[in-house]
Amino acid sequence: MSTPTLKQAPLQNGTRVLGVGAYRPDVIVTNEDVCQWIDSSDEWIRQRTGIVTRHRAPADVSVIDMAEGAAREALERAGVDPSELGAVIVSTVTHPYATPSAAASLTDRLGATPAPAFDISAACAGYCYGIAQADALVRSGAAKYVLVVGAEKLSDVIDNTERTISFLLGDGAGAVVIGPSDTPGIGPSVWGSDGSKWDAIGMTHSMLDIRDHAAGKGALSEGEAAVTEAALWPTLRQDGQTVFRWAVWEMAKVAQQALDAAGVKAEDLAAFIPHQANMRIIDEMAKQLKLPESVIIARDIAEAGNTSAASIPLATHRLLQDNPGLSGGLALQIGFGAGLVFGAQVIVLP
Ligand SMILES: CC(C)(COP(=O)(O)OP(=O)(O)OC[C@H]1O[C@@H](n2cnc3c(N)ncnc32)[C@H](O)[C@@H]1OP(=O)(O)O)[C@@H](O)C(=O)NCCC(=O)NCCS
Repeated sequence: MSTPTLKQAPLQNGTRVLGVGAYRPDVIVTNEDVCQWIDSSDEWIRQRTGIVTRHRAPADVSVIDMAEGAAREALERAGVDPSELGAVIVSTVTHPYATPSAAASLTDRLGATPAPAFDISAACAGYCYGIAQADALVRSGAAKYVLVVGAEKLSDVIDNTERTISFLLGDGAGAVVIGPSDTPGIGPSVWGSDGSKWDAIGMTHSMLDIRDHAAGKGALSEGEAAVTEAALWPTLRQDGQTVFRWAVWEMAKVAQQALDAAGVKAEDLAAFIPHQANMRIIDEMAKQLKLPESVIIARDIAEAGNTSAASIPLATHRLLQDNPGLSGGLALQIGFGAGLVFGAQVIVLP
C-alpha cells in the first residue's frame, strides 16, 4: 500500500504588523517616591538610567486585564475581528499562575475561542520571541492572524527596598496583530540565548523553596534567619553590571545581524526601538550601530521605566502616536533580558 501524500497549508509570501495597542496603568511612581525606599536620588536615577517615572497597576488590575486593554486596541487598529485570530500569544514573566496560561483566559475574554493560546517566558526578549513565532505561524499557513501581547505586572515581583533592579521596573502591556502581506513586513528573526548567565537576572528563590520552608525543611537563603512573610515571596534581583556589559557589547552585534539578515542598512531605518532597559544602553547601541540622526530612537523608558516584555510594543505605540509619519517606515527592534535571551528583527511599522 502506498502512503498518501499529505496536504499542507499554502505558504504565505510575507507577514506584517497590522496594528499596535497599549495599556498604561494609572499609578505613577516618581524617582522621589523610589528614594523613600532606597538610598538613591532623582539625579542619580536620571543620569544612570534615564528613568523619570514608571507606571504601576493597582491591586485589582491583573496581567490579563492589562493584556486585554492593549489587545482590544491592537485588534481595532488592525481591523481584525477576534474571531479571525488563529493564535494568541502572551509574553509575560509575571502572570501569577504557572498554569493555566494568561493567553487562554485572554482568548476567552476577547471572544477569540477556540484560537490556540499560549504564554512565552522569555523576559524582556518575550515580545521579539512572540513576533518570531507569529511570523512563522502566519507564513507557514498555520494561522491567518496572530495576536502577540507583552504584558507585565512587575510590581508584584519586586522588593521596593532593594537597589539592583526594583527602581527600574514598571507595569504595562503592549500588543500587536500580525497578518499576511504581499510583501515582507517582518524581516528574519535573529534570536537566541546564553544560559551560562542564568544567574545574572532572576528571582531570589523558587516556589519549591517556599513549600520546603513552609514544611519546616529549610531556610530560603543565607542570612534569612528571621524569615518574614514578605521574604517568602520571590522577588527580582540582578547583577546590573554584568547585564549592562552584555547588553552593550553583545546586543549591538545582534541588532546588526538583524539588519544584515533583512538586507537593509542603518540609514534605511526610520526608527530604532530597543528594549527600554537603560537610556545609556540605548545610546551606546545607537552609537555602535552608527545610526544616522534621521533615525528616530524610542525613549519610552523615561516615562515608563523597564516593563520587560511590554517595553517594545509600548515604545512602538508611543513612537507612532508622537510621529504618525513613521507609519510604513522600517524599524529595528531588539529585546534582551533574563535567561539570558535575546531577539531582534526589522519590521515595517503599521
Ligand atoms: C542597574 C544599573 C542602573 C546600575 O548602574 P551602574 O552604573 O552599573 O551602577 P554600579 O552598579 O556600577 O554602581 C555604581 C555606584 O552607584 C551606586 N548605586 C548602585 N545602584 C544605585 C541606586 N539605585 N541608586 C543610587 N546609587 C546606586 C553603587 O553603590 C556604586 O557606588 P560606589 O561607586 O560608591 O560603589 C545598571 O547597571 C544597569 O542598568 N544595568 C543593566 C540593567 C538591565 O538592563 N537590566 C534588565 C535587562 S532586561
